[in-house]
Amino acid sequence: MHHVDAINIEELRGIAKRRLPRFAFDYLDGGAEDEFTLRRNREAFQHLRWRWKTLVDVSRRTLATRLLGAPSALPVVVGPTALNGLFWPDGDLEIARAAAAAGVPFTMSTVSMSLVEDIAREAQGRLWLQAYVFRERAITDAIMRRALDAGFECVVLTSDFPVPGKRERDWRSGLLPQQRFTAATWLDILMHPRWVAAIGRHRPRFVNVERELPFGHNVNAYVGHNMFDPSFDWDDVKRFRDVWPRKMLLKGVLRVDDAERAVAIGLDGIVLSNHGGRQLDGAVAGIEVLPEVARAVGGRASILVDGGIRRGGDIAKALALGAEGVHLGRATTYGLAAGGSAGAARALEILADELDRTLALTGCPDVAALSPDLLVRT
Ligand code: LAC
Repeated sequence: MHHVDAINIEELRGIAKRRLPRFAFDYLDGGAEDEFTLRRNREAFQHLRWRWKTLVDVSRRTLATRLLGAPSALPVVVGPTALNGLFWPDGDLEIARAAAAAGVPFTMSTVSMSLVEDIAREAQGRLWLQAYVFRERAITDAIMRRALDAGFECVVLTSDFPVPGKRERDWRSGLLPQQRFTAATWLDILMHPRWVAAIGRHRPRFVNVERELPFGHNVNAYVGHNMFDPSFDWDDVKRFRDVWPRKMLLKGVLRVDDAERAVAIGLDGIVLSNHGGRQLDGAVAGIEVLPEVARAVGGRASILVDGGIRRGGDIAKALALGAEGVHLGRATTYGLAAGGSAGAARALEILADELDRTLALTGCPDVAALSPDLLVRT
């Protein structure tokens, strides 16, 4: 694997920005409306400051932990991101391989551009499936069944998508809502001939959904209108819980009462998430509600958090406040766009190195030593 030269996640973002046509970078990078929540996700971490323990012997350190009861090299899961195939040829496979090599779970998006079966064959690590609830429940059921057969260990049900957020960058490029690119977007695409040559040959499509549709359907148009169902509610969650026999998480929770309800109906945990600032602008950050949720359901359920994680220290902050681990979104996707599997691997390596330094500098030999008293809110 070649080496991707970046010393932090922001540099990977810079490389991604140079490589990708503008519409693809904007889709990856952007948020809803004024992007207030997108920015707030970062700022919320910056307002948490360390009050380290001094003179602790930290000569022997480990980042290893358990996620959903099984060992993981890091308290990190590569989270689901859509359209990975636009960022690198076979992007989902590339990022899944990087996760497996780093010893962390990979979460495949329902709207991934690689088949469930191919990912299971190519990436020998822990695999989770993110599920959108299609208007036709049979499509979601079929993809879950295939993931079950392929050995996926967990379903992550996304609950924060009754309608798409208003992503104004995508409206401007023409990617959304109809995939009708503007002239400026086409011109910009033509100015990225390397990307056109690499991606054009693969014709990335939502292959997992396509497989469930009658032959000849335009899958990309179908997904745009049908991958979310505003009637999705707690009764549906209960039904999914009954049909999926392995681990199940609910993603998109921002309240104690919803977290309690998820646990009460038998889910294994929750992902505190505002969908990377891509859905409701003005939403609170997952990390801001983590302490109260951890007080209510910590110990009874796995709590993951996502949104704005760009430094290993951010991961440590989430763990100190009671999370079992974090979901990465843009951090690894910037890496993917910067250099395929090697770029995603570089993102994970950067975060692991920073997390290790944070442990040493806060007086923690391992992630279990991270505790809320190490942090002050400023
Ligand atoms: C997004 C969806 C598709 O945030 O997950 O773009």
